[in-house]
Amino acid sequence: MLKSELRKQAQIKRDSMDKLMVCKYGDIIANRVINHEWYKSSKSIFIYVSMGNEVPTHNIIKNALAGGKTVSVPRIGPGTQMHAVPVRDLEQDLEPGKFGIMEPKLHLLPVSEACIDLIIVPGLLFDRRGYRIGYGKGYYDRYLDRVYTISPHCRTIGLAFENQLVQTLPRGKHDKPVMLIITEKRILLCPAEK
Ligand SMILES: Nc1ncnc2c1ncn2[C@@H]1O[C@H](COP(=O)(O)OP(=O)(O)OP(=O)(O)O)[C@@H](O)[C@H]1O
Ligand SMILES: [Mg+2]
Repeated sequence: MLKSELRKQAQIKRDSMDKLMVCKYGDIIANRVINHEWYKSSKSIFIYVSMGNEVPTHNIIKNALAGGKTVSVPRIGPGTQMHAVPVRDLEQDLEPGKFGIMEPKLHLLPVSEACIDLIIVPGLLFDRRGYRIGYGKGYYDRYLDRVYTISPHCRTIGLAFENQLVQTLPRGKHDKPVMLIITEKRILLCPAEK
């Protein structure tokens, strides 16, 4: 099936998920993240700000800020770029940005990809190799491409509900996989392909 078709179906399925399940599974996923060694040993994380039925990230962000980690969240644009901008307070430092997603206020400045040691990646679908389908703009593919090139120590974790995990997804040359996927049921290590 075409990516665009898979994306459309996955979005419908996700948006029809029961809110109580999103919260319940979201708590389990957040706890798995917070207890994971990659998270515990990280000093500077880049994490999406969840909205709607995305796997919730607010509790992870709060935990990371309370634990003294540097927490950066995405700012989209200009153009096809996405930047990591450090924030200190979820209430004060965010405002609605493109697509209605909460983004860091404009006076806050981005940091280089080289400063990040863990990236928490959203997705509509993931496969067992860590490949993903996002919203279709390639923001994460471009970002991960730069990170994997300049920053070999940086780790990446995709967050998904179990029903967003599939065997294999179609992939293009530009698609970049995550290293680990966390769902409410499992932690899946995605080995790099030779
Ligand atoms: N590194 C790259 N350089 C140039 N173009 C890219 C790169 N990565 C992705 N793109 C372009 O972005 C577009 C969207 O990519 P794709 O369909 O894989 O989106 P996606 O992975 O669902 O989106 P996202 O990464 O934002 O979640 C494609 O047309 C692709 O050509
Ligand atoms: Mg892609």
